[in-house]
Amino acid sequence: MTGQQNAIEAGQMLPIAQCVPANAKASTRTSTAARTAVSTAASNLIIGSSPALLQALERARQAARSDADILLEAESGTGKELLARLIHDESPRAGKPFVGINCAAVPEALLESEMFGHVRGAFTGAVGTAGKFALAAGGTLLLDEIGELPLALQPKLLRFLQEREFYRLGDTRPVKVDVRVIASTNRSLQLLVTEGRFREDLYYRLNVIPLALPPLRLRGDDVIELAESFAAKFSTPHPPPPLSESFRAALRAHPWPGNVRELANTMRRAVAMCDGAQIGGPGLPLSHAGPALGDVRWLRPGLSLRELEKTLLQITLDATAGNRTHAAELLGISLRTVRNKIRQHGLPPRRAL
Ligand SMILES: Nc1ncnc2c1ncn2[C@@H]1O[C@H](COP(=O)(O)OP(=O)(O)OP(=O)(O)O)[C@@H](O)[C@H]1O
Ligand SMILES: [Mg+2]
Repeated sequence: MTGQQNAIEAGQMLPIAQCVPANAKASTRTSTAARTAVSTAASNLIIGSSPALLQALERARQAARSDADILLEAESGTGKELLARLIHDESPRAGKPFVGINCAAVPEALLESEMFGHVRGAFTGAVGTAGKFALAAGGTLLLDEIGELPLALQPKLLRFLQEREFYRLGDTRPVKVDVRVIASTNRSLQLLVTEGRFREDLYYRLNVIPLALPPLRLRGDDVIELAESFAAKFSTPHPPPPLSESFRAALRAHPWPGNVRELANTMRRAVAMCDGAQIGGPGLPLSHAGPALGDVRWLRPGLSLRELEKTLLQITLDATAGNRTHAAELLGISLRTVRNKIRQHGLPPRRAL
């Protein structure tokens, strides 16, 4: 550190900007299997016990233990912010700030100052601010919707990731800060690279640990677990009526293009419209537009063939509610091979149909 450099230490900044939505309190129904010995606030908020989700959580927990930057690519509404919070909470940085910036929500002209801060007088009316990187000192910075980061700012982020320092607007002295970056996106960054909208060098630098979250349509009965949890939340303080059988069937069949967020909104409406002993009367149509079960946007280079095979096996077993014969048909392999692969990959034993 030179005399010319500014340094920001952990805990120096007062406010802790939190990314977890204010409405995300409540349920503690996360399955025991989905938790490690350390049960964090965020892990209690993440509901579901499908193999696809548990595998994603396990990878996230492994990533939390390292200090490397993370790229989290998953469809909209799958819980990226929740997962980022879980990674922070289960990392050695827990207790330090968790700060978020939504790169798509801040106007381009203000984004640099929002990220890196500015000095007094840097531009007309500039009073001087620290910026979110400085606020996150010692902790974690979530760069949400990183695909929307303007090209002009991308070299500045790359510089930070390589040097761990940045310049405030209007300042000539670099600021050193210890921050772990989690970048999240619901668009394929690789596609943006091929379109010339995202720098290739920044993509490779961010992609140190790639993580994904499965879309809801590949999470089997998580949809029912989540629906019941949202029903309880939106019925508070009263106990929720049970979901009708036809409504359960409709929830299972729906492709959920908006993922958990869409399900939460559906359940809010279902609870509001519930006038009898059951949730899910005839006035609740679920649209059937959206991607099909076979959508593979979560695939990315870097996934090993072994991981790919395991995930495909898991999501197929999820989709068939654990029916191995049906899974074998879908995968085009024999039942014996399905059994062998389940054993080789250490997948959980047969579930009740
Ligand atoms: N597994 C889960 N259990 C409980 N709630 C969840 C789960 N996943 C997501 N949610 C809830 O669904 C909503 C959307 O989640 P979140 O904002 O984390 O999604 P996202 O992937 O960041 O979406 P976007 O790409 O649109 O920003 C939030 O209210 C969140 O609390
Ligand atoms: Mg988000």
